[in-house]
Amino acid sequence: MSAITEEIRKVTTQRLLEMKRRGEKISMLTAYDYSMASIIDKAGMDVILVGDSAGNVMAGHTTTLPVTLDQMIWYAQAVRKAVNRALVVVDLPFGSYQGNSKEAVCSAIRIMKETGADAVKMEGGAEIQESIQRILSAGIPIMGHLGLTPQSINKFGTYAVRAKEEAEANKLLDDARLLDKLGCFGIVLEKIPALLGKKVAETVDIPIIGIGAGGYVDGQVLVMHDMLGINKAFSPRFLRRYANLHSVIREAVEHYISDVKTTDFPNEKESY
Ligand code: KIV
Repeated sequence: MSAITEEIRKVTTQRLLEMKRRGEKISMLTAYDYSMASIIDKAGMDVILVGDSAGNVMAGHTTTLPVTLDQMIWYAQAVRKAVNRALVVVDLPFGSYQGNSKEAVCSAIRIMKETGADAVKMEGGAEIQESIQRILSAGIPIMGHLGLTPQSINKFGTYAVRAKEEAEANKLLDDARLLDKLGCFGIVLEKIPALLGKKVAETVDIPIIGIGAGGYVDGQVLVMHDMLGINKAFSPRFLRRYANLHSVIREAVEHYISDVKTTDFPNEKESY
C-alpha cells in the first residue's frame, strides 16, 4: 500500500500577485511563536506576519517602539520553524531602517539570514525610498505599510483614522504608487477610509492588504491576539473577534487551580 502524501504548495510573492489578478482575497494574520504559527499555517493562512505588534501583545509595551531587531529575529525563528505553506513576512522594527539605507539593508539581511523568512515589512513611503531601493537590490522582497503606521505614533499623537483629509489621502496614494513602482510586492494599509482603500487597490498592481481599510482591498490582516479575543482591552471598530479565548483560558486555569487545591488533580490514572 502506498502512502498518499499531500503536496504543499508554498505561497510566494508571485502567487499573491496572481491572487489579486484573479480577484481571490488574501488572508494574513500575525504570529510570534512556534505553536500558534503551526496551527495558523495548517489552517491555510496565505501570509503569516511576525509583526512588531509583538511589542504590545507579547511584551506588554504600550507602543511598538521598544522592540529590537534581536527580538524580532527571535520571534521570527520560532515562527519560521512551524510554517510549511504560508509566506512569512517579518517587520523591520523601529530604529532598524530609518537611520540610513546601509543600516536598513544590514537589518533586512540579518532577518533573512538568521530566520529564513520570505520577506520584510517596512512602514513609510517616499521618506524611506533609499532604504527600500537598497533592500530590494539585495534581493529581499518588501511589503510596505501605509496609513496608520504605529512606529510613527509619536508624530501622529493618536491612533485615530488616517488620511481623512485630501492632502494626506493624496500623499498616501502617491506613496502607494511609489512602492509599486520601486518593486514592493504588497502593501498593508492601516486604519484609513474604505473608499481610499478601494482607490489604492484599484490604482496599483500589487496586492493591498487592509487592517481597518474596508472591504474593497485585496486581503485582510489582523493581530492574532485581537481576533482570538485573548486581548480584551483592545476593541477598535475594524476588529472582528472570532473567539473569546480570554474567558476560555481563564476558566481552564481557574478549574486547574481548584482541582489542585481540592486534590482532585492528579487522580490515580494520572499517577505512576
Ligand atoms: O505589527 C503588526 O502586527 C502589523 C499589523 C498591524 C499589520 O504591522
